[in-house]
Formats: sequence, structure tokens, C-alpha cells
Amino acid sequence: MNLPSPLDLSGRTALITGSTRGLGASAARCLAGLGATVAINGRDPAVVAQRCREIEASGGKALEAAFDVTDRAAIADAVAGIAATRGGLDILVASAAFYLTKPVEQTSDDELESLFATKFSSAFVAVRCAIPHMKARGWGRIVLVSSIGVIASGGRAPADAAASGALATLAKAVSTSLAPHGITCNAVAPGFIDTEMTQRYRDEPGNAAWIAGRVPAGRWGRPDEIGWPIAFLSTEAASFITGHTLIVDGGITSSY
Ligand SMILES: NC(=O)c1ccc[n+]([C@@H]2O[C@H](COP(=O)([O-])OP(=O)(O)OC[C@H]3O[C@@H](n4cnc5c(N)ncnc54)[C@H](OP(=O)(O)O)[C@@H]3O)[C@@H](O)[C@H]2O)c1
Repeated sequence: MNLPSPLDLSGRTALITGSTRGLGASAARCLAGLGATVAINGRDPAVVAQRCREIEASGGKALEAAFDVTDRAAIADAVAGIAATRGGLDILVASAAFYLTKPVEQTSDDELESLFATKFSSAFVAVRCAIPHMKARGWGRIVLVSSIGVIASGGRAPADAAASGALATLAKAVSTSLAPHGITCNAVAPGFIDTEMTQRYRDEPGNAAWIAGRVPAGRWGRPDEIGWPIAFLSTEAASFITGHTLIVDGGITSSY
């Protein structure tokens, strides 16, 4: 059979915050692999340019979008610039963050503000900026990178879990008003994935045995095991999925 593929993203434009490495970088590669032009974001313009060249070397199309996501004016400028260059914005993936692993009583005001500004408020502002462009197209896909901390945090990173919960709630909250416009908004909740953010835990003595004992899949996840679910939620194939938080964790939240 020769059906048009609902996974084809040719002609679509995506902004992926936090895509110089880790899960955002993987999502960008997967989206580019499905044909989208991907705007790569991180704080260092040289690193952003390098990631773009790598995607282009693999046959993909990439745009440079270096900015700090805690700068709300910069988010607005970037979205407007991408939309002007490409004639619109179809897909937004929010993945920029840093990991804060401190008990509540040791978390300072500045750390709390910084975490929420980077992980949650930046996503909220990017969604706000993207919506008019998606409404103009009558089509849009928003994917917010949350965490299994929304279900089972283990207590290691309470502020991060709270910000992840806020992202999952935001996805659900905006999905209903966007659905009539052909726009979906979902969250992806990764489990333990092998990225730079989690390197220090993989280096801890006994970590491999702990993971093997706790994660039914018996291993750390690969970044592409999050990148592809994000890409799927960004396609026409996922047109009736919205307000959902997709857990991608090798089974850990299903076990006890
Ligand atoms: N890895 C896991 O196991 C896991 C599990 C559950 C949830 N998550 C969540 O998934 C998201 C991505 O995690 P990851 O593992 O991919 O982290 P990562 O490897 O550390 O990558 C973080 C990305 O965010 C960017 N970033 C950080 N601060 C930024 C800022 N102020 N402005 C612009 N970009 C910024 C970084 O770019 P630059 O440094 O180049 O600016 C980088 O591209 C996070 O929300 C994390 O909590 C991860």
C-alpha cells in the first residue's frame, strides 16, 4: 500500500528549547529525521551552531536559535523571528532545564526561582508566544518535557518534581482551549535516561545494580527513547491525543 505517512513532518517548523544536548537534542534529531526544520536552542551560540551543522550533515534542516530561556523577551523575539523566516511555527518542544537535587529545607529562594524560571516559566512563555502562530495555521503541536517525578519522585529532587508537575498540569490545562484550533498539547514524563544531566548518578557506586533492580527494563533509557515519543506526539498520527502525560520509563512507575 502507498499511503501518505501521518508521521511525515516535511514543511513543518519546530522550536525545541534546550536542544544542544540530552533529550532536547534527541527530539530535534528525531523531528529533523521526520522532515521538520528544527530551531536549535541553548545559551551558547557556538554550541547551537555546531548542533545545527551536525543535523545538516545528516541531511536535516536546522536553524540557530541561541538564547537564554529565562529571558522572556528573548523567547518572544526568537518565536517571532522563526515564524517570520519560516512563515509560521508548527511545533514547540520545551526541554530546557537544569537539575536541582536538594531537600526543601536546603533549597534557597534563588535556586527555587531559577529552577522554575528555566524549567516551567520558560515553557509557559514559549507556549504563549507560539499559540498565535499555530492558530493562524489551524495546526500545532506542543510537547512539554516533564518527569516521572509527577508520579513517584523518590524525594531526591522536590523542586524539580514540582516544576515537572506544573508542566504536566499546564499541558492538560491549555489542551482544551487549543483543541478546537487543531493544536494539541501534551507532556512527556521520562524516567531515568542517560544524558549529561544524569551522568553523576550513573557514576555513583552501585547505581547499575540499583537501576537493574528497580527498572523493569533493567537499564537506563537512551535519549532517542524519549526523542521518538516526542516526535510522534508532534505528528499528524497523534492528532487526537491531547492533555496527556506520556510516561516513558521502562516500567519503573508501574512496579513497586
Ligand atoms: N535525563 C533524565 O533522566 C530526565 C528524566 C526526567 C526528566 N528529565 C527532564 O528532561 C529535561 C531535559 O533534561 P536533559 O537530561 O536533556 O538535560 P541536559 O542534558 O542537561 O540538557 C539540558 C538542556 O537545557 C539547556 N538549557 C539549560 N538552561 C538553559 C537556559 N537557561 N536557556 C536555554 N537553554 C538552557 C541546555 O543547553 P545549554 O547548557 O547549552 O544552554 C541543554 O540543551 C529536563 O527538564 C529534565 O528535568 C530528564
